Amino acid sequence: MKPIKCLVTAGPTREYFDPVRYISNPSSGKMGWNIANAAKQKGWDVTLILGPSQLPDIDGATTVRVVSAADMLSACEKYFPHTDILIMSAAVSDVRPKVYSGQKIKKDKIDFNPQLEPTPDILKTLSLKKKSQILVGFAAETHDVMHYAEEKMKSKNLDAIVANTVGSEGSGFAADENKIDLILRSGEIVDFHKASKSRLAASLIDFISAKFFGGRRPQDRQ
Ligand code: C5P
Repeated sequence: MKPIKCLVTAGPTREYFDPVRYISNPSSGKMGWNIANAAKQKGWDVTLILGPSQLPDIDGATTVRVVSAADMLSACEKYFPHTDILIMSAAVSDVRPKVYSGQKIKKDKIDFNPQLEPTPDILKTLSLKKKSQILVGFAAETHDVMHYAEEKMKSKNLDAIVANTVGSEGSGFAADENKIDLILRSGEIVDFHKASKSRLAASLIDFISAKFFGGRRPQDRQ
């Protein structure tokens, strides 16, 4: 009897120019951390891949700490083949500097128009390797969130996507509360009312468990 194996990513990534300067975003990792914790409470076998964050390890789960999008991709690739469900809530930086300087760049030598390049799209990369895994993405947007979320779900070949409005007070990045909707591939939309990230995470995991795993307790799985 095997528990459901769940891979969760959380937090930002940091893309360094030199040892002391980087591109990132204000994600605290709280939403993904709470999702991983809720999955753990449900008895799932949880691996949390966590970008730079103040949050502690989760008792009884495997916590892997990473820095950049490239690190996060490598960690995800290691665990993905053995996972039943990936919930990709990390706020992966979209861009990174093309050039990294191993030594701190002196102020008068800083390039004010640095060359940037896209980071690897972790979810898209993994979706191409998908076998029976359920893939759930996040769409954090300041506007037209449902529209963009649906587009992302299709373009990244996801089973579901969490639409999350960010940038408004008391919700989204770094806040303790959040407002999310879950959009399923079938077109079904589940509205989770504004609540603390820990309550939302528990409701989300309950819903996902019922929808994709028939609500079975992990110990019922063959
Ligand atoms: O493409 P966009 O960043 O809007 O899509 C958001 C979803 O894709 C999130 O689930 C995020 O974790 C994931 N993502 C990723 N790799 C990136 C950028 C985003 O896996 N480089």
